[in-house]
Amino acid sequence: MTTQDNKTWSGRFSEPVDELVKRYTASVEFDKRLAPFDIQASLAHATMLEACGIIATQDLTDIRRGLMQIKQEILEGKFSWLLDLEDVHLNIENRLTALVGDAGKRLHTGRSRNDQVATDVRLYLRHAIDELQEGIRDLQYSILDLAARHIRTIMPGYTHLQVAQPVSFAHHLMAYFEMLKRDAERIADCRKRVNRLPLGAAALAGTSYPIKREMVAELLGFDGVSENSLDAVSDRDFIIEFTACAALIMTHLSRFSEELILWMNPRLGFIDIADRFCTGSSIMPQKKNPDVPELVRGKTGRVNGNLVSLLTLMKSQPLAYNKDNQEDKEPLFDSVDTLTQTLRIFSDMVRGITVKPDAMRSAAMQGYATATDLADYLVKKGLPFRDAHEAVALAVRFAEQNSCDLSELTLEKLKEFSPLVADDVYSVLTLEGSLASRDHIGGTAPRQVEAAITKARKDLEG
Ligand code: ARG
Repeated sequence: MTTQDNKTWSGRFSEPVDELVKRYTASVEFDKRLAPFDIQASLAHATMLEACGIIATQDLTDIRRGLMQIKQEILEGKFSWLLDLEDVHLNIENRLTALVGDAGKRLHTGRSRNDQVATDVRLYLRHAIDELQEGIRDLQYSILDLAARHIRTIMPGYTHLQVAQPVSFAHHLMAYFEMLKRDAERIADCRKRVNRLPLGAAALAGTSYPIKREMVAELLGFDGVSENSLDAVSDRDFIIEFTACAALIMTHLSRFSEELILWMNPRLGFIDIADRFCTGSSIMPQKKNPDVPELVRGKTGRVNGNLVSLLTLMKSQPLAYNKDNQEDKEPLFDSVDTLTQTLRIFSDMVRGITVKPDAMRSAAMQGYATATDLADYLVKKGLPFRDAHEAVALAVRFAEQNSCDLSELTLEKLKEFSPLVADDVYSVLTLEGSLASRDHIGGTAPRQVEAAITKARKDLEG
């Protein structure tokens, strides 16, 4: 960072800011990413100032010209960011004044950095949310495409990580589709509270100039203006809310990751993840490690931590703006960046999954996954459920002792556990029979899962 002359803040100060303090308090290194939004907001503010007769038309023309040039300089990497100028706002304003003179000095009329920064962050986050929605959709499509090919691929469904009942791989995948659907709804709802204009609140109490806040809101595409100036400059709820949404999305992807890692373990061997998402070991030549899902799981810790950071940042702040709020940006940016990258890589990774139906099937054959089906069969023949449960438990015990599956027991043997058993019993003891019988909305029957996938695709397109 270059240093300008070591100026004091203003006539109010008798000595310049300590060098260390300057570095401690500066935010330009991380808030410069707000520059495009800062410029956008300044253009709208200046347009309103001119429309209200607060600045001259010539001033507006000069401000526009200057800001467009600054935008270009930043795009081309020619803008010199100065640590001495603390943050993105002062850097841009200072350059504007250097470019267009007094008009640049008039831009800050009726505005404070307090309402300015709140506006910039809202514009930034609104944009980020819109991009994230695309990322979520893309991953949802990847899941749908994979699920559509595995409506009849049977795997063991687990509870307590022990074999419970057979499900289709498609049905299992569609559970993640549902989570992502809620995630998309959640950030869409969060966007409503992001999309409010704080500008006009000025430092905290409003401004004495005859401003038109609604005009600025409209120019910037906000749904409305914030209705209390103190709240406008101190509210960071929308950031906390977004960060909570981000933590939940990452948590979903972390659970998915954990499953991918388990499924890739040779003991299960349900899937393979494409080599381009894995790495080897520097010492063990045989290794192929699922680094991407492991890192998704790991990065979830950081994103969850960002939520806690922000809640802690706010918990003791009196109204209105406090410099503490400068600390809102790094956790927010980190959550946005991590989530954006994770969604992209996850979508590609899901497209690169190889499914091994035979391994899934043989795992579903172990663990008496159709025991509930046998109990339900007996209930349908008139046995009370608790008695059926006990009869099947004894049958499972016998099968276990004889190292065979329920479907491998003879009809006579099965009849010993309940005289209600007849030769139609074998159809419910198959994995296919088990799946097909769960034939209601939300069930794993192939035709239900197929309908769920069709509906999901329609919802995404609609
Ligand atoms: N860099 C500051 C922030 O991020 C901008 C607002 C500063 N306002 C102030 N009164 N010092 O919050």
